[in-house]
Amino acid sequence: MFRQAKGIFFIGCGTSYHACVSAAYVFAHTAGIHVNTVIASEFSNYEKFLTDKSLVVALSQSGETADLLDAIRTAKRKECQTISIVNVVGSTLTRHCDLNILMNSGPEICVLSTKSYTSQLAILLMLAYSMSGRLNEGKELIKKVCENVSRVIDNNLETLESLAGELKENRDFFLIGRDLAYPSALEGALKIKEVSYIHAEGFAGAELKHGTIALIDRGVPVIVLSTERTRYLILSNAMEVKARGAYLIGIDSVDNELFDYFIKVPDVNHANPILMIIPIQIFAYYLALARGCDPDKPRNLAKSVTVK
Ligand code: G6P
Repeated sequence: MFRQAKGIFFIGCGTSYHACVSAAYVFAHTAGIHVNTVIASEFSNYEKFLTDKSLVVALSQSGETADLLDAIRTAKRKECQTISIVNVVGSTLTRHCDLNILMNSGPEICVLSTKSYTSQLAILLMLAYSMSGRLNEGKELIKKVCENVSRVIDNNLETLESLAGELKENRDFFLIGRDLAYPSALEGALKIKEVSYIHAEGFAGAELKHGTIALIDRGVPVIVLSTERTRYLILSNAMEVKARGAYLIGIDSVDNELFDYFIKVPDVNHANPILMIIPIQIFAYYLALARGCDPDKPRNLAKSVTVK
């Protein structure tokens, strides 16, 4: 379906949308395939570009998100090919799509998407690798991720808890990343906001200086998502905010003297987003606890949003 498509769209809401953005980078880098990513509630604006040759891939944990179901109905009306990547078996989304890829993540009880996000990333990574005839290479990367998940958690659990205690009164968090680490910055910011109610924003590394740098002041925490491929440039962006007094929390496979605090995450190339998000998810969890918030049931949020 991917090979035959003329125009591919990845659509989703919230965390699922961030998985779409992340996957679009992997498809570009590994398979040389261009994918449009669209927030599901905005998808109708693209209706005039849809034909029976378009492929629409809908990502969702619940398969019940109203904005997404509406978008998939638009796609069906235009006779597009449709695929879901979904966790809940038998959900409304699965009944609408031509093909369903089931995530098999098991029930996700907490309101925030965590394991469903990493699962979406893993599936899409394998899909992208298989598109370039390198499925085994993709699987090897996923295995490498699996081997490292517990290590990343064990090595950082206590320090993330104390960091959360230290930073819990901050008004803002900023996260920066380039390339594949950019959607991770968006998702990391969402996790912090959802569960701790502290304002957080994720940026493409070079974008912060186009306005938001005005908010950087002494002690403002900036989480720097750095990888082998992007290190040189993201550290130059980090330096810009450090010069304005930012407190830098670096996530990378190697430490750097710029960082006030360092979280070591092994570099696993295109699978980096799967590993990188884990310390941020845990950090957000500890921020919530430190602030007396319930990490399972954040205020004003629902696990699946069935209204438009
Ligand atoms: C709600 C949840 C988010 C989730 C979004 C999309 O807003 O609070 O955590 O990312 O819906 O949900 P879905 O089930 O479609 O992935």
